[in-house]
Amino acid sequence: MTQKTWGGRFSEATDKRVEAFTESISYDHRLYRQDIQASQAHTRMLAAVGLLSQQEAEQIVTALEEIGQDIAAGRMPWQIELEDIHTHIERALIARLGDLGRKLHTARSRNDQVVTDVKLWVREAIDQIDSRLEDLQRAFVRFAEREEGVILPGYTHLQRAQPVLASHYALAYVEKWQRDRDRLAEARRRLNVLPLGAAALAGTSLPIDRDMVRRELGFAELAANSMDVSSDRDFVLDYVYALAVLAVHLSGWAEEWIIWSTTEFSFLELPDAFCTGSSIMPHKKNPDVLELIRGRSARVIAALQQLFVLLKGLPLAYNRDLQEDKIALFTAHDTVNACLEVAIPLVEGSRLRRDSITARLEDGFLDATTLMEGLVEMGVPLRAAHEAVGRLVQECEQRRCRLAELPEEVFQHLLPQHLDDSGRLRSRLGTAAALAAFRSHGSTAPAEVKKQLQLWKQRLRLDPAQH
Ligand code: ARG
Repeated sequence: MTQKTWGGRFSEATDKRVEAFTESISYDHRLYRQDIQASQAHTRMLAAVGLLSQQEAEQIVTALEEIGQDIAAGRMPWQIELEDIHTHIERALIARLGDLGRKLHTARSRNDQVVTDVKLWVREAIDQIDSRLEDLQRAFVRFAEREEGVILPGYTHLQRAQPVLASHYALAYVEKWQRDRDRLAEARRRLNVLPLGAAALAGTSLPIDRDMVRRELGFAELAANSMDVSSDRDFVLDYVYALAVLAVHLSGWAEEWIIWSTTEFSFLELPDAFCTGSSIMPHKKNPDVLELIRGRSARVIAALQQLFVLLKGLPLAYNRDLQEDKIALFTAHDTVNACLEVAIPLVEGSRLRRDSITARLEDGFLDATTLMEGLVEMGVPLRAAHEAVGRLVQECEQRRCRLAELPEEVFQHLLPQHLDDSGRLRSRLGTAAALAAFRSHGSTAPAEVKKQLQLWKQRLRLDPAQH
């Protein structure tokens, strides 16, 4: 008898080259736990509707459990002539139980089976990435606490713009990781629809109970259209999209910290254990981990692109092209997972170089915009105030001085005629004073930042006892 599950109508053995070309066991073996879990649920259902006896079901469930243990222990040799993980497990079952094993695939096709397995796998993958993201958020919140009170220059166009609290800066990333988590949660919610029972494409004439399988596997709903099921990979796109956005966030952050760790910036000391050296230059401490986090985002973005190109133009229902979805899926997941694994301790071990930050904090006119807003509060039209402060900056550049170092009468000159309060205006000068002047909701105002830090500590259950 043929090894193939579909050998009956063939009179010639499959060409070896075709077996090598069509196999997916080399990568879909990663689905073995989910395949067994889904098959066990399917088996119990077959017994409940009378397609198997209770005793047969118990035998199958137990044998599947043992096969899972064999695979986990590396005792299952993968054979390309058995194509994929589904066939390997079914063959192993038949090897143990004979004809009884041949009943497992009743009312099921690999088409609905593979989507079910992949959904179960993605569900777990989402939970894993979400928990790592939560740890990354915690690392950034701890950074915000550790560096509380430190003022940083904030940048636009990578030019000095306005002062910000280091905590405000760190919490900006916490917000991004939160949106990444929200996107993952949304992807999880959407995928949580049971495919199994759609069979090949049209459903089955056998009296199955899909809702029982749904409950056992923890899906929220039943897929309503069997033809949709076997062609649907939207959930893979959703997940990989969420990963691609996350990878882009990681990449931008990595780029920033690479810049911050240069001699030119000297804002950041990275932990030695997360840097590498040079084989020729003895003094080098290179941010390779951050560079690779930045570089690996390419793989994740490429995986999303790969899926779009793969799915474009497939007629209903199942097409073998779909087997390729797992390559992009696993690459995107593994890449992001590995990046997060090193990003978390790297953040925990990094320290701001407060001395060199402070030494140059008065450079770059970080107080210019708050000075302008001071004039606005005194009734000067914004455009006029902008123009006036712009001229002061020009003057400072000629004199090579800071705004706070300009003579008193310069400020007197700026004020509307009826006001004589250049002191109030000058009290806003200097980076620290400019920082203290902020007040809007969500701004870097110290009181606002304190509130946000408190909120995040609560949300992430970071009470003082924990660190
Ligand atoms: N290995 C296949 C895949 O990943 C399983 C489904 C095969 N179905 C089929 N009709 N050949 O898509």
